[in-house]
Amino acid sequence: MPHIVFNQNNHLNIPSNIDGVSFDFIAKSYNSKKSSEYKIAVTKNNHQFLLTKKNKNDANMIKYDKTTRISPVSCIKDAINAYAKLTNANILFTNTNNINQKINIDEKYLKNIEYIVNEFETNKEIQIEIGFGSGKHILYQAKQNKDVQFFGLEIHTPSIEQLLKQIKIQNITNIIVINYDARLFMEFMKSNSVDNIFVHFPVPWDKKPHRRIYSSEFINEALRVLKKDATLELRTDSRKYFDYCMSLLSNLNSGKIIIDINKDLEIISKYEKRWRKQEKTIYDIVLKCQEEDDVPIQKCSFNFENEVDFDNIKKIITNKAIVKEDYFIHIENIFDIENEVNSGLIQLTFGNFNRPLNKYIIINNGKASYFQDKPIPTSSNIKAHKYLTKILNND
Ligand SMILES: C[S@@+](CC[C@H](N)C(=O)[O-])C[C@H]1O[C@@H](n2cnc3c(N)ncnc32)[C@H](O)[C@@H]1O
Repeated sequence: MPHIVFNQNNHLNIPSNIDGVSFDFIAKSYNSKKSSEYKIAVTKNNHQFLLTKKNKNDANMIKYDKTTRISPVSCIKDAINAYAKLTNANILFTNTNNINQKINIDEKYLKNIEYIVNEFETNKEIQIEIGFGSGKHILYQAKQNKDVQFFGLEIHTPSIEQLLKQIKIQNITNIIVINYDARLFMEFMKSNSVDNIFVHFPVPWDKKPHRRIYSSEFINEALRVLKKDATLELRTDSRKYFDYCMSLLSNLNSGKIIIDINKDLEIISKYEKRWRKQEKTIYDIVLKCQEEDDVPIQKCSFNFENEVDFDNIKKIITNKAIVKEDYFIHIENIFDIENEVNSGLIQLTFGNFNRPLNKYIIINNGKASYFQDKPIPTSSNIKAHKYLTKILNND
């Protein structure tokens, strides 16, 4: 990632700007046992993010900040170069002049979770495929059902890139690709809004069952988002996974289960082809939703209403993780904003154990808010936010 190593420079005046980059504040680590670390707030193209400045082997290094980094990477390189220019730094090493960048594939159909939560609306029927892998099944479905809006969820980047390429080549317009953990995704869908969820050949995770897609929570969330008579369809070659899902599904109060063995589908994925060659048994469990469910999606403003006494917070806050049943909070570091009263940054990780969120809370003259965007409203993030509010209020 972009960085510059230098051994001498002038003080950076705040605020200042050069080459379209403005420097908004400098925050210094509080109480750090190691050498001081600085966070420098930068605005470029209307996006605010941080740079990290550290001491390294008698020299200084300025680099990206992994929590607030933005794309394209050229923005971060421009900010680092602007810092070096403004402070007249004597540069010993740089990798910020290299303009070679990975050629972006068409990302028109790749959307982030914030888009789904805050902007996405459709009157179309919605179908979801979880862990689409090579994308063969979702591509087939999208071509057969042009009036349906498909969501493809994956966490494996090469599979995502492969599907985006195929979407472009085959001129498909009704798939939205989302790089997000499917176990958490359902929380963002409205109740009674989805017509079909496909989970084909999920990783069985025999040794790490907590990583499985199917769990009681997942099934209940699926039933909530499915319309009446809509289905959650599991296809697996793993007898263990089949038995595990059956034990979860047979405890449900609602929903109808339909089981099939070696059912023929119109399209066969790469995995299925392999298992068929080996004459493995393939199991299908279709769960049909039988009730309308009206539990609303959880909402949270993620605001901090009360004034914060930052000097007091610095003294009482601990970096020992707070671990609750379904969320955690870990304060990583605290920074004082230079030349400002009652102002600083709190760097923290929190939320769900499977998908922790890295964030900063900024305190400006006692007014606290999340730096950059607010967290996504998962139930774990909402609970963690409520607990953080208590910490900041010193309750
Ligand atoms: C064994 S492959 C099956 C791919 C495809 N469904 C097929 O039938 O060929 C399982 C896929 O699920 C994806 N996956 C695993 N865990 C996931 C999760 N939590 N959220 C979304 N995708 C996941 C993996 O990256 C992988 O591509």
